[in-house]
Amino acid sequence: MKELNIDELKRRFQEKIDNDIKIEPKDWMPDDYRQTLIRQISQHAHSEVVGMLPEGNWITRAPNLRRKAVLLAKVQDEAGHGLYLYSAVETLGADREETIDDLHSGKAKYSSIFNYPTLTWADMGAVGWLVDGAAIMNQVPLCRCSYGPYARAMVRVCKEESFHQRQGFEIMMKLASGTPEQKAMAQDALNRFWWPALMMFGPNDADSKHTQQSMDWKIKRHTNDELRQQFVDITVPQAEMIGLEIPDPDLKWNEETGHYDFGEINWDEFWQVVQGNGPCNKDRIDARRKAKEDGMWVREAANAYAEKRKARLAKKAS
Ligand code: 3HC
Repeated sequence: MKELNIDELKRRFQEKIDNDIKIEPKDWMPDDYRQTLIRQISQHAHSEVVGMLPEGNWITRAPNLRRKAVLLAKVQDEAGHGLYLYSAVETLGADREETIDDLHSGKAKYSSIFNYPTLTWADMGAVGWLVDGAAIMNQVPLCRCSYGPYARAMVRVCKEESFHQRQGFEIMMKLASGTPEQKAMAQDALNRFWWPALMMFGPNDADSKHTQQSMDWKIKRHTNDELRQQFVDITVPQAEMIGLEIPDPDLKWNEETGHYDFGEINWDEFWQVVQGNGPCNKDRIDARRKAKEDGMWVREAANAYAEKRKARLAKKAS
């Protein structure tokens, strides 16, 4: 087949994007498209795996067997999401071990939200309701991402996320209609997780270095600010329904725009947390490093078994 020059390759690539034809692993793609996907999908995978830690802390402390079973199922789902997404990164030619080492070395990011402590049982409600609620807002459009494996992974992830969000909101509903102490615990959790949840959507569009290019490549289908606004518009009435107050004195329904106006996010706090200076950053990375060390013998045993099996089959075939 005649070698196509780079401009023709780029033209055909963008034509597929413009016509919503999925880009598959074996298709030609510009290297910066590939690198953007490796960056975003690997950090998404890291977020899923680190995201298990704040909730894992409460599995043994759940108030009853039902809550424990539901939380256990949710945390197991997050592990599966992480493995799914690490596999999606490998389709782009990234090495899984190196990708995971980038997390442990601090080279790769993961969602800032997971660097906040989970201090009470109500935090399990706030995390499910707000963090998974925000994740759904951000992940549903990713089901239409231009890169095939990522889009397909998101379809399954989103089905499980909606269960995660509902179980969290149910915890908040129960507490908010419980004793005054329980309602106060739910309000305290909302106070501590509301603003970090808004930060999950990333910097304002004007300060986002990747959004425009990711929109042009249809990796992102909505901008950071559009998704954040959708999240606020959906979540405020939910809080009102259960009698909790959003910790934002500037929150106000705007008849003209048909959206809630809300206060300024503390971007200094956001960047401090992203740069490793949040309340739990060190704990989270230490925990992930320890998990890798503690699990090394399992990987070595599995690899040894696989090598022996391969040799046995090769001997049989000769
Ligand atoms: N935490 C940490 N870093 C963040 C961040 C956050 N909340 N928001 C943005 N950043 C980083 C970006 O990674 C980028 O840094 P980099 O160039 O070193 O990667 C920088 O800040 C600039 O931000 P941009 O908005 O320009 O970057 P993106 O275009 O990548 O947008 C994003 C950021 C919206 C998070 C996008 O990467 C995305 O949609 N990722 C996929 C979804 C995802 O990762 N969600 C995280 C939560 S997963 C989760 O909650 C699991 C659930 O089951 C609990």
